[in-house]
Amino acid sequence: MCFPMNATYPIGIFDSGVGGLSVLREIRRELANEDLLYVADSACVPYGDKSPQFVEARSVAITEFLVGRNAKAVVVACNTATGAAIMTLRSRFSVPIVGIEPAVKPAVGKTESGVVAVLATNGTLSGDKFANLLARFGAGVDVLIQPCAGLVEQVETGEFYSDGARALIAKYVLPLLERGADTIILGCTHYTFLTPLIRDIAGPAISIVDPNAAIAHELRRRLESNNLLSPDARRGKERFWTSGSPDDVKPVISQLWNADVEVRRLPKRYCPST
Ligand code: DGL
Repeated sequence: MCFPMNATYPIGIFDSGVGGLSVLREIRRELANEDLLYVADSACVPYGDKSPQFVEARSVAITEFLVGRNAKAVVVACNTATGAAIMTLRSRFSVPIVGIEPAVKPAVGKTESGVVAVLATNGTLSGDKFANLLARFGAGVDVLIQPCAGLVEQVETGEFYSDGARALIAKYVLPLLERGADTIILGCTHYTFLTPLIRDIAGPAISIVDPNAAIAHELRRRLESNNLLSPDARRGKERFWTSGSPDDVKPVISQLWNADVEVRRLPKRYCPST
């Protein structure tokens, strides 16, 4: 079989910070022999309280960096950036671009109480893309939306089980349960790392829906249909960059990736101008 040269090229993945590692983990499970480039835009985290224009500009800069490093596809491992930038990225770059959005459709299929809750950033929940998603898939059920200010910051500092994280989750989740929600959608890739705490607070009967594995399947399908799956038999490698301080970001990435990883500083021209 004959493979195009770029099938051996890496896949680029980015997020505002370390949340996208929850997607990276699923991509690594699904595609063991692909090389993966990951950018954490830590100088700009959180994206959720920035303007859509700002998030779009950052998404374009980071995608330029990834494509400049020969990424054969780019995964926007961030709901907020997908909402703000996916159309622009698809119109500006010729590589396949895969995004992520709150898994409303699967949650609506799952709920028995008819009440579904979405935990996400303010940016995601106030965007047009989310409004369209609700209009398409939210009919017939009650969809409660809950912006979760502060949770991304807990994950960025490695506070997955802290009292602060627990108090925030209780504040956001308990009222949703009181209103009858039996299904909680994790609409931000950072929140996956808080699943044990969310489960602990919500209890065993609640379904927690997270689209990360589905995104990895979708990436495989997109690579397959473009004849871009790597023909390499060896195990793929991961490389990490941050627009923030590598010394600060490295311990959290290493903890979440379960390895002592090297984190490089994103070249200046791709960093925010301030
Ligand atoms: N992981 C991003 C998301 O899925 C984080 C958002 C943020 O930085 O506020 O939305």
